[in-house]
Amino acid sequence: MTEADPCTLVIFGAGGNLARRKLLPALFQLEAAGRLPEGMAILGADIAQRSDETWHGEVADLLRHAHPDSFDPDVFARFKPRLHYRQIDPKDPASYAALGSALESGPCFPPNVIFYMAVRPADYLNVVEKLGQARLLAEDGGWRRVVIEKPFGYDLLSAQTLQSGLTKHLRESQLFRIDHYLGKGTVQNVMVFRFANLLMEPLWNRHYIDHVQITHSETQGIEGRADYYEGAGALRDMIQSHLLQLLAIVAMEPPVSMTAEHLRDEKVKVLKSIRAIPQNAVHAHAFRGQYENGLVDGQAVRGYLEEPGVASGSTTETYAALKLFIDNWRWAGVPFYLRTGKRLANNSSAISIRLKNPPQDLLRGSRQGPPQANWIMLGIQPDECLKVEMQVKAPGLQLKTRTLSLDATYRKDGEADYDAYEELLLDAMHGDHSLFLRIDEVEAAWRVVDPIIKVWSMERDFINGYPAGSWGPRGTYRLFDRDDQFWRHSLDIDGADLRAF
Ligand code: BG6
Repeated sequence: MTEADPCTLVIFGAGGNLARRKLLPALFQLEAAGRLPEGMAILGADIAQRSDETWHGEVADLLRHAHPDSFDPDVFARFKPRLHYRQIDPKDPASYAALGSALESGPCFPPNVIFYMAVRPADYLNVVEKLGQARLLAEDGGWRRVVIEKPFGYDLLSAQTLQSGLTKHLRESQLFRIDHYLGKGTVQNVMVFRFANLLMEPLWNRHYIDHVQITHSETQGIEGRADYYEGAGALRDMIQSHLLQLLAIVAMEPPVSMTAEHLRDEKVKVLKSIRAIPQNAVHAHAFRGQYENGLVDGQAVRGYLEEPGVASGSTTETYAALKLFIDNWRWAGVPFYLRTGKRLANNSSAISIRLKNPPQDLLRGSRQGPPQANWIMLGIQPDECLKVEMQVKAPGLQLKTRTLSLDATYRKDGEADYDAYEELLLDAMHGDHSLFLRIDEVEAAWRVVDPIIKVWSMERDFINGYPAGSWGPRGTYRLFDRDDQFWRHSLDIDGADLRAF
């Protein structure tokens, strides 16, 4: 790829969690890889007063902390001159006028500018409006782009309101809506697996696939984010965005090309084909839960209701599972089970695809127990892998079968590993929208979850609990269409028989 134009990256909310944990470490990794454009400047903007020197010290500390083994002082010496800081009051128009003058007069700030909204979602519109009013979004001397983090709205209506507010100041081509899952190499590998291997395509449909499971489990709790999480919950936080994007990539038709519009056309078609869940069927399609105290990695942890900032009696879900159907020719009748949860038994994101059993069970006499289906396992993180489980003959004199896993490991030893944000930041600098969400995708995803949000928000008296460190609330099995379907907790064969309750 050619080098991007020199640009200035202005990070609103530079002192916050996202900038410190993800953006600055990712930019530093890009520096180490020699991928930041010559002359690029990174301007941190936040409400706290800091000098450039204090900022340099803070950034060096957080990078040392993020990469204790690989922090390279020589790379930091190259990185430091790019780093600037400016105090800004997001509500005060004078702050934006001053920012404009600083950008114009500072010779170190290239005129192409990306404004990154690493602020609270409730502040996106306010910041963009103020930038617009200060004429900072006009593309007079260079391009101007705005990166918006998820969640984009908190339901369909608020997403549409946010969109109409943003488009008063921005064209669609200037907007980059992030879903950081699309920046993960393993998620892109799902597309490579599907579209670069003819082997899979004939199987990739309702004739051969029994069901698909998409899981994101975390051992972490809400990590001090009650302020955001109380109003979000697992359904908005993970399913509306990341898991529905994974579903779209697994289920979409091959696009005309891999360009942004063609890719997004196919994803949006899938999202629009998801069967709407009427409010009176929400309980048959969705299950929620909330963690109680328990043990995670042998450590006692408190329940959600005891987390600082959580309202007493809160029914915010920290676990959500859904059953969805995609009403199109390829997928009619195939259930897609999605689940996510905090404080679960382990950290894992994976797509598990179970194939149907052969039409005749010829080997029933040489096997104990029910037939074992083929599974295709796509490990997203932390185990990045692609496995296909097959039945083979066990060595010996009898015709007995056993399961074997063919493992096409995704990354070889020594190959660089990047977090999602490196790729996405580079793409925003290049103006490539392929891995960013188009507004119709966002709207279609809200249409899927909105009925569930409505019902859950009315049912405030009760929520199922689950012990921290477990696999979620009891009873989620009722989502399954058949008795022989069960949650697949592990990418390993041994885990295949672990049935959830
Ligand atoms: C974020 C959610 O978007 O994704 C978090 O807000 C969640 O709650 C995180 O923990 C998971 O991302 P990753 O990359 O760690 O799987």
